[in-house]
Amino acid sequence: MTEATPSPQKKRGFLLLLGVAVAAAVVTFAVIALVTNIFEKKTADRSSGTTPVVTLTDTTYDAAVWGQNYPLEYDGFLATAQFTPSDHSTALVPVASEPRAAAVETLGEDPEMRTETTASKIEADPRLVTMWKGYAFAIDYRHLRGHEWMLTDQRMTLRVLAKDQPGACLNCHASTVPVMAELGNGDMNAGFDAMNVMPYSEATALAEHPIQCIDCHNPTTMELQITRPALIEGLKALKASEGITDYDVNRDATTEEMRTYVCAQCHVEYYFAGDAKTLTFPWSNGTDINDVWEYYQEIEFTDFTNAISGAAVVKAQHPEFETWSAGVHAANGVSCADCHMAYQRVGSQKVANHQVTNPMADINGTCGTCHTSSEAVIQERVTTIQNRFVDSRDRALDALVALIDDIAAATENGVAEDRITLAQQYQNKASFYVDYAYSENSYGFHAPDYMQRILSQSLDESRKGQLALLGVSAEDLEPSDVSKANAAAAEEGLT
Ligand code: HEC
Ligand code: HEC
Ligand code: HEC
Ligand code: HEC
Ligand code: HEC
Repeated sequence: MTEATPSPQKKRGFLLLLGVAVAAAVVTFAVIALVTNIFEKKTADRSSGTTPVVTLTDTTYDAAVWGQNYPLEYDGFLATAQFTPSDHSTALVPVASEPRAAAVETLGEDPEMRTETTASKIEADPRLVTMWKGYAFAIDYRHLRGHEWMLTDQRMTLRVLAKDQPGACLNCHASTVPVMAELGNGDMNAGFDAMNVMPYSEATALAEHPIQCIDCHNPTTMELQITRPALIEGLKALKASEGITDYDVNRDATTEEMRTYVCAQCHVEYYFAGDAKTLTFPWSNGTDINDVWEYYQEIEFTDFTNAISGAAVVKAQHPEFETWSAGVHAANGVSCADCHMAYQRVGSQKVANHQVTNPMADINGTCGTCHTSSEAVIQERVTTIQNRFVDSRDRALDALVALIDDIAAATENGVAEDRITLAQQYQNKASFYVDYAYSENSYGFHAPDYMQRILSQSLDESRKGQLALLGVSAEDLEPSDVSKANAAAAEEGLT
């Protein structure tokens, strides 16, 4: 011990002084807070709609009208049309170079709708074609871009032009509030059901816009609102699994949670249930991939049959919300909006940046609101996480491709049926897990350690599939008692 212990008198004097200082600080803070509050109220008046130019109602569907009251948010919103390059998607490509042109002509779509689009992921990585052979994703799958493009890019993908798709696709690619209202005569759930089951070409003809203000905001109060029936139901099922009955997101969620839930309307893994093609989020066991996998096993759901190996497989897509949920930011209450819609100072105002895009485009303005490290250090950290992710992802994907090829060869060579069937089951799981990691758009950033676990699970399933072809029994491929005990303990948070 190098520090001297203060005498009791000194301690009391110190405490008194501390008390005075704290009291002074509290008063000063209160005065500042009051002044700031008045100041913020005044500035807010100028742009926050307290003196609205137009009155917004639940049938004001066009964002341009909302934009008259909220010009700053509207400017950001329109800017989602701009392409924001990232390390993974560096430039747009001309549409003329795509095989799409021919399909566009045959199907009578207007090729002028877009002249450039994002680069193809399947051209860059042919292993994806092996993973999805026989399914629409094997013919067209590209990098994502800003919200303004969501409807056009869906209408122009070969997954829609060359395959029949249901209206359910529209849920996350258009402002569906007016579509559901029209189809259901004001009853959103009835409209949702009607939209899901109709052919995509008919449903999309009813849509006028990509996502609009009304898809996230209540027009009267401007509070965030959830308009998507699939999320309302998905969260109800998820909360029920945690013992909370009759959860209603619009009634029960906190303002903070809504800053994530508005995004979870679309950035989630989903499937279309039954002949009604009901858009469903598979969360009744939880949102961990193991819970989701279990759910799909219970309902015996698969999306397609791999054309190379004959295995029936589940396809994963963009589980950003679920992955974020497993990460350290979610644990600390950091929402999607904190990083993707960070508050900006515009003049004297604080505005949520409605140009939803890659936060690395403005590290200081987003991460910098909480992290004090330099931009270079933060960038380096993200790059390291993503490189390690890609390294593991590629091993898992190579292993899956090897398994698929081995199953095809084994079938060709007359290997026993039961071995093939077992290997195909391993393929399904390996494929879903690596696909989940591939389809999540943060390259591991949203939950780095969780993603590494998923990739090691996938790799393990692929190698087991290969061993199954060689005749090793399912029993011998089960994890050891020690692994099982450790996994159970980890699940309970005991390790
Ligand atoms: C639950 C919401 C949801 C549904 C339903 C949905 N999408 Fe998407 N879609 C998204 C999100 C989020 C993205 C952006 C993330 C990404 O690209 O992974 C996206 C991206 C896309 C893209 C651009 C990137 C690419 O894949 O080439 C296309 C095209 C697309 N979807 C087509 C479809 C089609 C076709 C359907 C119906 C089979 C569909 N979507 C259904 C949410 C959805
Ligand atoms: C994808 C969902 C989404 C869409 C679409 C959207 N917003 Fe927002 N908006 C948000 C979020 C999230 C916040 C932050 C809310 C909070 O912190 O409580 C926000 C905040 C706001 C605020 C409060 C002031 C501020 O800037 O923080 C206004 C006003 C606003 N939005 C207007 C609009 C307008 C106008 C449109 C359409 C042009 C629009 N929003 C479209 C999600 C959305
Ligand atoms: C109605 C469905 C929907 C909602 C709600 C939604 N997104 Fe998206 N988002 C999409 C689709 C679809 C795309 C891909 C569009 C394309 O590639 O054409 C996308 C693209 C993106 C991108 C890529 C942007 C770029 O510049 O590359 C980011 C980031 C993103 N969304 C984050 C969010 C966040 C954060 C929220 C909530 C504040 C949110 N999204 C709400 C459907 C949605
Ligand atoms: C702590 C900050 C943070 C939070 C919170 C966060 N993200 Fe991200 N997000 C990132 C970073 C960093 C990337 C990686 C960007 C890159 O690859 O350059 C990313 C990537 C993405 C992408 C791909 C964007 C692109 O342009 O390639 C989407 C889509 C996305 N996030 C959606 C979400 C959604 C939805 C949520 C909430 C459920 C969320 N994010 C929460 C930081 C965050
Ligand atoms: C609203 C506050 C906030 C914002 C914005 C934010 N972070 Fe964080 N970040 C946190 C907190 C809190 C932690 C957990 C710190 C801890 O446990 O000590 C964290 C942890 C991290 C970690 C450690 C991750 C891990 O798994 O251990 C990284 C890396 C990180 N943040 C990067 C970023 C990047 C990059 C951005 C911007 C895209 C960002 N953060 C934006 C609050 C934030």
